[in-house]
Amino acid sequence: MSFTVIEQAAPRANRSELAVPGTRTELFEKAAKSDVDVIFLDLEDAVAPDDKAQARKNVVAALRDIDWGTKTLSVRINGLDTHYMYRDVVDVIEQGGERLDLIMIPKVGTAADIYAVDMLVTQVETAAGRKKKIGFEMIIETALGMANVKEIAFASKRNESLHFGVADYSASTRARTTVIGGVNPDYVVLADADAAGARGVHWLDPWQYPLSQMIVAARAAGLRPVDGPFGDFKDAEGYKAAARRFATLGGEGKWAIHPSQVALANEIFAPSRAEVERAQRILAAMAQAAKEGRGAVTLDGRMIDIASIRQADNLVQKARQFGMA
Ligand code: COA
Ligand code: MG
Repeated sequence: MSFTVIEQAAPRANRSELAVPGTRTELFEKAAKSDVDVIFLDLEDAVAPDDKAQARKNVVAALRDIDWGTKTLSVRINGLDTHYMYRDVVDVIEQGGERLDLIMIPKVGTAADIYAVDMLVTQVETAAGRKKKIGFEMIIETALGMANVKEIAFASKRNESLHFGVADYSASTRARTTVIGGVNPDYVVLADADAAGARGVHWLDPWQYPLSQMIVAARAAGLRPVDGPFGDFKDAEGYKAAARRFATLGGEGKWAIHPSQVALANEIFAPSRAEVERAQRILAAMAQAAKEGRGAVTLDGRMIDIASIRQADNLVQKARQFGMA
């Protein structure tokens, strides 16, 4: 390991994160009673400009009045390029009470954006006499934000997680798609013709590069990488495939824009029984290896070594977090 020790963000379950528009007050109680890990009440893009002030009032009232149980609660504020953002921060922290855990900052472009919000949040928090320090969730959803993702990840001690906002990201990079997440029939590889002249079509994941980049930046800084929305909420299999790909690379969780996606994310971002069992067998085999003075041994015909302990430990710790081990 490096001599540089990275502190990990406050541990929180973040398998699923439900988006709830700040205007749709009838959804608040339903979100609170769902099985989701994190809820974010939205003041940004799910709220039309004329409704911004009312949404802010709704959210402040909801922070005070609704029983959110043990859920992690976040508010997505407006971007730093708008004239709504300062009042979002001021009103939500001054009037919302102690319940709020996180603020979600959209369209982060530079580390200085985080510095600016940190300065404002710190002032309001101190003036309001708040005891609990608010954490930051940052959405990486512009070309600028992705270009600066490492500096953004390290920009504040409040930082907890990075989120990939696929729709704004594709708009910003001018990707030729109008869907929110998922794959694209134009992003394929055509294999050479086989003996019969047939050519296989291999669908690729257009988001693999940005997601990998964001995962590396997040994990390097001790933050949780979280994938954003999958707009086609009737396509459970498509959602699960996207979530599995992200989990495979090291992703922590995924947004739900509809309650039906919550259970899918909770399932995929917790390890399966089979994975936990295998991890436990690896740990047992390596404990035996250590007694015999060996660093590498064979398990099920494959080499495992001390790095396998770290991989297996991650899985077992995650299983413990969700009461599975
Ligand atoms: N949170 C909590 N409950 C929700 C919900 C949400 N985000 N979205 C829908 N529900 C509830 C509905 O009220 C309904 O409840 P009921 O069975 O008691 O009547 C149930 O879940 C099924 O909803 P459905 O009728 O299928 O959806 P809809 O047509 O009302 O709404 C969306 C569909 C996509 C508009 C809505 O889910 C939504 O607004 N999602 C969040 C969008 C968002 O925040 N986008 C910005 C971030 S990307
Ligand atoms: Mg966005």
